[in-house]
Amino acid sequence: MKRKIYVFDTTLRDGEQVPGAKLNLEEKLDVAVQIAKMKVDMMEVGFPSSSQGDFEAVKAISEKIGQEVCIAALGRAVEADIDAIYQSIRKAQDPLIHIVLGSSELHVSKKLQKTPEQIIEIGAASVKYAKQFLPKVQYSLEDASRSDFEYMWKTIEAVVKAGATIINIPDTVGYAVPEQFGNLIYRINDRLKNLDPNVILSVHCHNDTGLATANTLAAVRNGADKVECTVNGIGERAGNTSLEEVVMGIKLHEDYYGGYTTIDTAKIYETSRMVSATMGLDVQVNKAITGENAFAHSSGIHQDGLLKSKDVYEIMDPETVGAPPMELVLTARSGKHAFLYVTKRLGFEIPEEHFPEVFEKFLQLADRKKEVYDNDILTLFKCCPNVKSVFDKELWQLEEYQMTATSTLPTATVKLIRGEKQVVTSSSGSGVIDALYSCIMEAVQEPVELIEYRINNLSRGKGSLGKVTVQIKHNDKLYQGKAIEQDVMEASALAFINAVNKIILDEE
Ligand code: KIV
Ligand code: ZN
Repeated sequence: MKRKIYVFDTTLRDGEQVPGAKLNLEEKLDVAVQIAKMKVDMMEVGFPSSSQGDFEAVKAISEKIGQEVCIAALGRAVEADIDAIYQSIRKAQDPLIHIVLGSSELHVSKKLQKTPEQIIEIGAASVKYAKQFLPKVQYSLEDASRSDFEYMWKTIEAVVKAGATIINIPDTVGYAVPEQFGNLIYRINDRLKNLDPNVILSVHCHNDTGLATANTLAAVRNGADKVECTVNGIGERAGNTSLEEVVMGIKLHEDYYGGYTTIDTAKIYETSRMVSATMGLDVQVNKAITGENAFAHSSGIHQDGLLKSKDVYEIMDPETVGAPPMELVLTARSGKHAFLYVTKRLGFEIPEEHFPEVFEKFLQLADRKKEVYDNDILTLFKCCPNVKSVFDKELWQLEEYQMTATSTLPTATVKLIRGEKQVVTSSSGSGVIDALYSCIMEAVQEPVELIEYRINNLSRGKGSLGKVTVQIKHNDKLYQGKAIEQDVMEASALAFINAVNKIILDEE
């Protein structure tokens, strides 16, 4: 029988420890609300004794979403920390006190400067103290993966007897390797389930050698009931276990892991983008599950295979994680099939007898631009009188734009065309891009919200790559547009227009 694996999100505690990612109270509340949408089982939202600001944020989050999700907060094994945790989370319906104390020789003798026996006593006393306030107490043995096994077990026995309901085994410095860590969890689980089968065994891994996900999954395979993770894997140094990787790893191999999570995976992508934008931490383009290229295919061989059958090169449907549909990036290496697929998606029919000449023009364009986006195809076909659009809905194209960048009043004017229709709009904004996007939004009249905008300057002479993600207000669907142009503003405008055109095509 498959068991439920609890997902404990610590984006707002361990994740927020990333330098430069500190959030204010409003931002923390927004992120907490977004993370709750994924239906995580537990959410650790701060370290209340560390500052008044952290205390207030934990309290505010507990009051706002504490009726929907178990709220946890962290502290050391000292009464003042436990008092602060209790005061900040007590309004939540299902609050959890999380206590951390080192268990490795390095922590016990060097950092804490105590004897091993003293540490066990302090740990057990802190759990007893916390239990006066709340029924749920998690005890973390910091640096567990570098601790002596029998000493660790003595500690676990003592804190479970004192009332701990969750035992957390952290690989604090990302030192573990999957086989050994799996074996460690197996041995602890074996004894723990004999000691008290109701105590939850949890793991918390760091990614210093890129093994956080592998270690966490090895632990699940070997009996861990709960995984601690962060959105996009953010956290101290190289980060924590990434929530999306572990959740999707388990989902793809439920039989192998003998477990399942109850995460609403369709909310993963949106949450990843929101956390990235709010914390100002970019998601690596090739990041598993949530990276921009996670569902993009550019090699001709792969594109051909995918077009024959998606499962040839796709192990999960992007929609499962709420990501925009798979993207075929057209390059000079794309074959005829991929080119035809994209042109058909854009509503064009190329008469067979004209195909060689049109494809040749595409290859020349691809050689020049390296990556060819939807607006490039629309422009290309303007010069191909034999290629006809078979859609009754036309797509938006950028005809002209003008911008004035001043420190006080940045303004923009754009002229867009759609079939016979021409629309000219003007707007001011907080910056020129803001003004430009206000113009486009007014012109296209689609109910969208801008979620993400990025501009990457490619190497000298190769122009700029604009990337935009927009979300439809009424159904939360995400669409992405990209464009490469010499001019930054043009790349930005066209990326937005490409995203809007994708919405129109989806409606088709
Ligand atoms: O990495 C760590 O050991 C921690 C503990 C507080 C669980 O973050
Ligand atoms: Zn940690």
